[in-house]
Amino acid sequence: MGLIPDNVIDEVLTRADIESVVGRYVLLKRSGGNLWGLCPFHSEKTASFSVNPAKNIFHCFGCGKGGNAIKFIMEIEHLSYPEAIRHLAGIYGVDIPETGYSADNIKKEEKERVKDILKEAAKFYYKAYNDENIGKPARDYAAKRGLTKQTLDNFGIGYSPINWSALYDYLNKKGYTDEELLNSGIFKKSDKTNKPYDLFRGRLMFPIFDLYGNIVAFGGRSLGDEMPKYINSPDSLVYNKQNHLYALNFARKEQSKQLIVVEGYMDAIAMHSAGFKNTVAALGTSFTDSQLKLCSRFAEEVIFFFDADNAGQKAALRAIRMMMDYLKKLTGINIRIRIAKVPDGKDPDEYIKTNGAEKFKDVVKNALYVEDYLLERAKNDNTDPESGELDRGRYQKDICTYGSWMNDEIKMSRMAGVAAPLLGATAQAVMNQMIKFQQAEDKKQEQMDSRALERQRREDIDRRNVAEEFEDADNSMPSEVVTERPAFKKVNDSATKEEVDLFAYALSLGSALAKNDRIQKTDIIRPDDFSGDTLRELVKIFLNIYDGRNETLFAKMSDYFSRLTINGMPAEDIILKAVEAADKCADVHVKSDMYLALLLKVRESIINREEERLMNLRGSSAPEDKKKIDEMLSRLSDYKLSLRNRIGEL
Ligand code: UTP
Ligand code: MN
Repeated sequence: MGLIPDNVIDEVLTRADIESVVGRYVLLKRSGGNLWGLCPFHSEKTASFSVNPAKNIFHCFGCGKGGNAIKFIMEIEHLSYPEAIRHLAGIYGVDIPETGYSADNIKKEEKERVKDILKEAAKFYYKAYNDENIGKPARDYAAKRGLTKQTLDNFGIGYSPINWSALYDYLNKKGYTDEELLNSGIFKKSDKTNKPYDLFRGRLMFPIFDLYGNIVAFGGRSLGDEMPKYINSPDSLVYNKQNHLYALNFARKEQSKQLIVVEGYMDAIAMHSAGFKNTVAALGTSFTDSQLKLCSRFAEEVIFFFDADNAGQKAALRAIRMMMDYLKKLTGINIRIRIAKVPDGKDPDEYIKTNGAEKFKDVVKNALYVEDYLLERAKNDNTDPESGELDRGRYQKDICTYGSWMNDEIKMSRMAGVAAPLLGATAQAVMNQMIKFQQAEDKKQEQMDSRALERQRREDIDRRNVAEEFEDADNSMPSEVVTERPAFKKVNDSATKEEVDLFAYALSLGSALAKNDRIQKTDIIRPDDFSGDTLRELVKIFLNIYDGRNETLFAKMSDYFSRLTINGMPAEDIILKAVEAADKCADVHVKSDMYLALLLKVRESIINREEERLMNLRGSSAPEDKKKIDEMLSRLSDYKLSLRNRIGEL
C-alpha cells in the first residue's frame, strides 16, 4: 500500500461528513449548531461529546478527545491513519489509486475508464476545433464571442463535429466497449441499432473539471440559434452536477476569500478573462446546498449574479431562501452572501463586453448584502411603477417573510430598522412580527411529523412507477411531476381552458399524434397532465382506445362523455366545441405545433406547482430527504429548461 495522495484525503474528508461518521456509533441530538451525545471514549451519564458539522470535527469536553472524521475512526476502530482513511473511503465511495491488485471494487476501474474516455473526448474535441476545415465554424463563433486563444486553451474548449458517430468511431477504435462509452454520459443509445451515438454534435465544447482538474462532464453550446442552446452531459459514475461548480478548479487556486457565482459557462469564462478569476458557474441547475457547502470550504463570502429577467429573479429568491435555511442550521459556517445586479438586464459576459472589466469592478463592489437585497426587492416588487406608491400590506408581508429567513438577529433587526419607517411602525414591532413568522414556520415544520414523511416516501415510489413507463430519460417528464390524486373519490370536474384545448387537439390529431416527427412518445398526453378528474378519466379512456390507427377518436369516445361534466357543464358540449376549433386547422404540422405549445404550457404549470410544493416540503425534511428533494428540484428545473427551449423552437 502506497502513500495516499492529499487530494484523496481531502475528498474523503469532504464526503465523510462528521455527523454521519459519528452517527454510526453515537446517538446524537441537535442543540444549537452542534450535536451532542454520550462520549464513546469515556464513560459518562450526561452528554459532553459534541459534533460540529460546520467545522466537520468532534470534541469531547469530558475526556478532551477531538479531531476530524479520520481521527474519530482511528480511535474508535483502533486503526492507523492510512487504515482509517481506507475505511472511510470504502464507506463513502472515494477511490484510492491502488498499486497492485485490489479485488475491492470493480466500480473503481469503471470510473477510471470513464475518466479516461472523457479525457480522450476532450482531446478529440480540441483537435477537431483546431482542424483547418472541421473546426472553422467553431473558430468563427469563438471569434465572434471574443474568446482569445489563451482563454480557449485554458478552459480546454473544443468542438464536436457535425457527425453522429465521429467520437464514437474514434473511441471504439481505441478499444472502449459500448458499455464503457455509455457510462461516460456523452453517448446515447440508438433505439434502432442499439448502438451508442454521439450526444454532442456541432457544438462548442466546454469540459467540466472536478476540483482536481479531472474532466468529469461536458457542456456543449450550439453555434447558432439551434435549440437547445446548451446540452450538458448527465450525471454519471464520476459526475453529480449538484456537487460541482464550473471553473472551481481554477477559482480555488486564487485563494481569494471571495467567490463569485454566475449562471452561465460563458459568464464564468468572460469573468476569468476580465481578471475575476475567483468566479464559478452553477452548471445549469438551481444552486444547491452542497454547492454552498463547497463554496464555504474555499471562501468567506459568496457573491451571486442572477439573471435580471423574471426567471432569474425568482431563482434568486429561491436560492436565498435555501441558503439561509442551510446557514440557520449550521451556525459554524460564517459565509457572507451578497447579491449583485448587472445593470441594463445584461448578463456579466455581455456587460463586460460592452463596458469593460474596469466598470465591472463597480458592479461587483456594489453587490448588496443579502438582507439589503431583500429589502430592496420587497420595496421594488410592491411599488407601483407609475404612481410610485407602495402597497403597504404586501410590503409588510414580504418584509416579514424575508426577515424570518434570516439566520441571525442582527440581519433581522437591520431589516426591521429599514422597513419600519415605510410601515409607519417601530423597528421593534416589525422585528416582533418577523419572529412570529419564524415561529409559525418552525411550528409548521414540527407538525410535519414522521408520518407525513412516510406518506411522502410512498408517493415518491408511486410516482417513480408512473415514470418508468417513459424510458427516454432525457425527454421524459421527471417522475415527480405528477399532480396529487385525491385520496378518496370525489369528482373534481374542473379544467382550465388550456387543458380542454389540449385534449381537443389530441382528439383532433388522432393517429397523426404518433406518426409525426415533432411529437415524441413522451409528448403524448397522460392523465396526470390534467388537474380535474373528468379529463383524467377521459384521457385514460383515450389512451386505451387510441391505437395509432386512423380513426376519428372523437366519435369513438362520445359514448363516454354523456354522464360527465366539465366545470359544471356537459363535457360533450365543451369538448365538441374545442375539437371543432382544432379541426379547423388543416395543416398537420401547424396542428401539431399547437398541440405541443398547449402541452408545454400545461406541463410547465404543473412543474411550477410541484416546485412550490417541494420547496415547502423541503423546509421540514430530514437531511437525507432534503437531498432527495434537491435532486428532484434540479431535475424539475432541467426539465423546465428543456421545455422552455422547445417552446422557443415552435
Ligand atoms: P443562459 O440562457 O443565460 O445562457 O443560460 P448564457 O449563459 O447567457 O449563454 P450564452 O451567453 O448565450 O452562450 C445560463 C446557463 O444555463 C444553462 C447553461 O449552464 C448556461 O450557461 N443552460 C442554458 C442549459 O444548461 N441549457 C440551455 O439550453 C440553456
Ligand atoms: Mn450570455
